[in-house]
Amino acid sequence: MRVPLLDLGRQNGPLEGELSEAFRRVVRSGQFILGPEVERFEQSAAAVAGARFGIGVSSGTDAILVALMALGIGPGDEVICPSYTFFATGGCIARVGARPVFADSCATCFNIDAAGIERLAGPRTKAIIPVHLFGQAADMDPIVEIARRHGLAVIEDAAQAFGAEYRGRPVGSFGDFATVSFFPSKNLGALGEAGLVVTNDAALAERARLLRNHGMQPKYYHPTIGGNFRLDALQAALLAVKLPHLAEYTAGRQRHACAYHNAFGGLGGIAIPQTHADRNHIVNQYTVRVKGGARNALRQHLEKRGIGAEIYYPVPLHRQECFAKFGPHPALPVAESLAEEALSLPVFPEMTGEEQQAVIEAVTEFASGRNG
Ligand SMILES: Cc1ncc(COP(=O)(O)O)c(C=O)c1O
Repeated sequence: MRVPLLDLGRQNGPLEGELSEAFRRVVRSGQFILGPEVERFEQSAAAVAGARFGIGVSSGTDAILVALMALGIGPGDEVICPSYTFFATGGCIARVGARPVFADSCATCFNIDAAGIERLAGPRTKAIIPVHLFGQAADMDPIVEIARRHGLAVIEDAAQAFGAEYRGRPVGSFGDFATVSFFPSKNLGALGEAGLVVTNDAALAERARLLRNHGMQPKYYHPTIGGNFRLDALQAALLAVKLPHLAEYTAGRQRHACAYHNAFGGLGGIAIPQTHADRNHIVNQYTVRVKGGARNALRQHLEKRGIGAEIYYPVPLHRQECFAKFGPHPALPVAESLAEEALSLPVFPEMTGEEQQAVIEAVTEFASGRNG
């Protein structure tokens, strides 16, 4: 049985009527960029992230860029972020002219190692970007506490964790800013590019809104330099159709994660991801560690059986060629071993029980073959 890593058609198909109606509404409105569709979505999406203000932007990457720009971070500054994350986290720091300083990760939950952040903070450090990786919140209490003690801003990269919670509070409500991605494969996916900046600070929200549109206020007057980071009305309208289904999507992901946990918990050579009891993990990815140098062999084993799997991420940021100029970077042993051992399995909400069983059997067969 073939099991794709992801099947967006199964999620969007049942909503085709409503999505088409939203499309027609935007076509008829003639308002294609920003406007009331965007404003409505901003409000309801910010509420999910526990924030007062939402600023719809063109992608999760641009959301990070806008947040950094709004905080005035630039040349001469340093920003701490995990090495084991998607490129955009570190890429945006470099794009505003600052130096990314990479932190190591937790070996069992994959998030930034909060205990290691303090020794990276120096006189040039201006901010920390914790990433809520794979859908589980980073350890925000110690991170916010360190930031407060050193006078640092916090930008939560919640690209993979829209709707996740930490100690009963939604991610997005802890930092000065949080940033979200609605890339189609995310737990709430647009039908194109889309992102969101959220904040509880009215002045920062206003600044981000200004930067999103070339720093222009009033029209053709530019008190500051921004960019074109505007969100399309169409994507906002389509996302508004999908948003009410987010809880049901999350429940599906969590159900699959639970079945994987039960099936793989006792398997030799496979380490299941740790879910902290004080967090609501929304399982954007279900990622195991494959021990003994066998990760690529397991991936091939799954591929031969038609089962999709992905390596998030094969190269940690401190080992990326483009970041060498910010080095020398110290060794980050956990990030390096995660890059060699991590494998993400299909966990999309609409996956059937039969499909999940096929994944479980294939992984179990592989692990038993190596151990037996
Ligand atoms: C952790 C993280 N940060 C930022 C981004 C960037 O989001 P986008 O692809 O919408 O630009 C992503 C998306 O893949 C991500 O996973």
